[in-house]
Amino acid sequence: MNDRRDLLLDEVRNYHEENRPDREFVPGMTEIWPSGAVLDADDRAALVEAALDLRIAAGASSRMFESRFARKLKRRKAHLTNSGSSANLLAMTALTSPLLEERRLRPGDEVVTVAAGFPTTVNPILQNGMVPVFVDVELGTYNTTAERVAQAVGERTRAIMIAHALGNPFEAAEIARLCEEKGLFLIEDNCDAVGSTYDGQLTGTFGALATVSFYPAHHLTMGEGGCVLTADLRLARIVESLRDWGRDCWCEPGETNKCLKRFDYQLGTLPAGYDHKYIFSHVGYNLKTTDLQAALGLTQLAKLDDFCAARRRNWQRLRDAISGLPHLILPSATPRSDPSWFGFALTVEADAPFSRAELVDFLESRKIGTRRLFAGNLTRHPAYADARYRVSGDLVNSDIVTERTFWVGVYPGLTDEMIDYISSSIKEFVGSKR
Ligand SMILES: Cc1ncc(COP(=O)(O)O)c(C=O)c1O
Repeated sequence: MNDRRDLLLDEVRNYHEENRPDREFVPGMTEIWPSGAVLDADDRAALVEAALDLRIAAGASSRMFESRFARKLKRRKAHLTNSGSSANLLAMTALTSPLLEERRLRPGDEVVTVAAGFPTTVNPILQNGMVPVFVDVELGTYNTTAERVAQAVGERTRAIMIAHALGNPFEAAEIARLCEEKGLFLIEDNCDAVGSTYDGQLTGTFGALATVSFYPAHHLTMGEGGCVLTADLRLARIVESLRDWGRDCWCEPGETNKCLKRFDYQLGTLPAGYDHKYIFSHVGYNLKTTDLQAALGLTQLAKLDDFCAARRRNWQRLRDAISGLPHLILPSATPRSDPSWFGFALTVEADAPFSRAELVDFLESRKIGTRRLFAGNLTRHPAYADARYRVSGDLVNSDIVTERTFWVGVYPGLTDEMIDYISSSIKEFVGSKR
């Protein structure tokens, strides 16, 4: 049986080698994706191995991934979810748990967040009946500042939920200090920034909760997937309950009576001894993953340091090559940070002799993929037309991001030749417009 399994897995590896995509780079012909998964023979074999074992729900690989990833990201607990968006929903919802007693967030409470970014950093605030307070970002870093956040904090502000923009850390230490002084919770949306550091400390370790996405664009992939991390065991328990239907019991679905008290509980107005497996202490969801996803996560995790190093190398190579170029605001790392970059953002200056659309069209015509800084100013989208929110200060830079910013890729699948083709294309276009 095991011999056959080994043979099958060897065959999978052979298949992988024989079916590698053509690696020859033809400028202007080969697509240069802004992001994508980098998958090797180990990843393919891990997926097949999980399938051979019929590990179709969460199981051994999920538990192993959670424990290794928590250790890697220096948090006590990691809980896998089916997406980064679900991780954000869980993190925000966890703060509304009755188990937090008087610290629990309630409908109408305010949560400070950033206007220019990804919608599902903000949506869980609204989905929980709370009020986002939008702050603006800086051009170049695309993050807000501790100062802007401090100014936004009002009487009803109870939490801060911000993403590290395109891998670039926000001023996490200062914002965490503000949270401590004011008794606020901090959630770091670390979906785009795994491996980044601020003040030498990993992003995702400054707040009460942090989230990660494993969609193929991100630093590690499981296809779809995400994770909530925390150092606080009470919050971890709440996240797990909310993820797993809201149940009070912490046995794995296939386990029974691990606590040896399965029929000894009396909670709510339920009869004494009601099966703990079916006692619900939260109004929960089912946002779990499968072991196929986790198996892929484990082989990807083994390559995380290399992936982050490649992202840094690609970003720096591009940054050095176009340094000093006029008419563009070039990206910069937040001071005292070492970003594990997600993308390379460019903003066309207001008085440039070309528009963002012209530059983007030129790059796309050369098969150089571009993306917007996600939604840009979220308050301008139809989805939020009737939403209850507050704006602190103005959103001038978020509007500039909406109108003049885009990004190109630095993910580990890009070669030096590709990065050089991106930089020479940008230089050629800008040079032709002088
Ligand atoms: C900052 C940020 N947060 C959350 C998400 C959502 O992640 P997912 O696509 O896994 O739901 C993304 C997606 O790219 C993101 O960039």
